[in-house]
Amino acid sequence: MRVAVAGGTSPTLGASIVSALLATQGRYTPVILSRESKREASRLLPLQQNAEIRYVDYSSQTSLVAALRDVEVVISVLLIPGPDWITSQVNLLHAAEEAGCGRFAPSEFALTDHAHTMVDLLAAKHVVWKEVQTSVSQGKIDAARFPCGMFMNYLGIGISKDDIRLEALAGFQEGSFLVHLDAPFPWIEVPVRADGSFPNLTLTDIRDVGSFIVAALDIEEPWGGRDLGMAGDTLGFIDLISLCERYTGKSIQVYKVTKPELVTRLQSISPGQFIQYMECQLEIVGTLDQWVIDPTLNRLSSIQPMTVEQYMKRYWGRE
Ligand SMILES: NC(=O)c1ccc[n+]([C@@H]2O[C@H](COP(=O)([O-])OP(=O)(O)OC[C@H]3O[C@@H](n4cnc5c(N)ncnc54)[C@H](OP(=O)(O)O)[C@@H]3O)[C@@H](O)[C@H]2O)c1
Repeated sequence: MRVAVAGGTSPTLGASIVSALLATQGRYTPVILSRESKREASRLLPLQQNAEIRYVDYSSQTSLVAALRDVEVVISVLLIPGPDWITSQVNLLHAAEEAGCGRFAPSEFALTDHAHTMVDLLAAKHVVWKEVQTSVSQGKIDAARFPCGMFMNYLGIGISKDDIRLEALAGFQEGSFLVHLDAPFPWIEVPVRADGSFPNLTLTDIRDVGSFIVAALDIEEPWGGRDLGMAGDTLGFIDLISLCERYTGKSIQVYKVTKPELVTRLQSISPGQFIQYMECQLEIVGTLDQWVIDPTLNRLSSIQPMTVEQYMKRYWGRE
């Protein structure tokens, strides 16, 4: 069964999913969809070079339908700045329908749908999902979303040994968020609930996402347009802080922040500072306890994903 991974060139989710598909030894065959580029070979990991790449133009239905002609499932891990994120994925969805693909999954890999509606930069996911749901209800294609919480690999930021840090990050290149173990005096910001208590959060190692996707492909009944969530680990901030202290060997400053404080902070951030704006909105979501993912795929499979304790021990424990 051919599984197209739109954006499968990425060193993070693309590599994770392509690698998990290749590991099925032919049960599922990855086909990477990528924009035409002259620098593709050098930026691909060796495992991605073992997969077929089909070059597409996400604005051309003809191009997309041709690339999906013999494909059963389309998984998107696209991340496109601006409104093209919606149009490219909606084009991909309709091309998948026209090409006769059976299943489609948009680029989610974050929080719940409700949470995304509260974060401007992630609202595109909600718009795409509405379109997907319409297609599912009209019987044009089967579909699911794959929420996974926060990438656990944020916790690898700050590891000083280059080789260990690169392994811990698994291709992840963003800056720290919430957990600042890279600071000279490490600190964690905890968005507290209205009653002042600490919320829980789900984290998943990027490398486990691919295994969960294969588990989802193995489900025989229709996905049915539902959330197929996954969780490496779900824990409270008190446990997260104590694990960070134990494995970094440093004491961690904890700064609590309330929803009203975050709302005031948001007003001082210009919308042009879109990453800071998104992070502040995500923290507001945290105060509303919207950071926990229902781990449906954990229940449906025997996958033993990396826990936060295993992650901290494996990477920070070798510092
Ligand atoms: N849960 C978390 O903590 C977390 C953190 C970060 C991201 N995410 C989510 O994970 C998903 C993937 O994010 P990522 O950071 O892994 O993505 P990424 O590596 O930045 O991009 C993925 C792929 O998108 C394609 N792409 C980039 N710009 C494009 C454009 N303008 N037009 C068409 N295609 C373009 C590229 O493929 P080609 O160049 O080969 O075409 C690229 O390999 C997103 O849904 C994102 O929201 C979640």
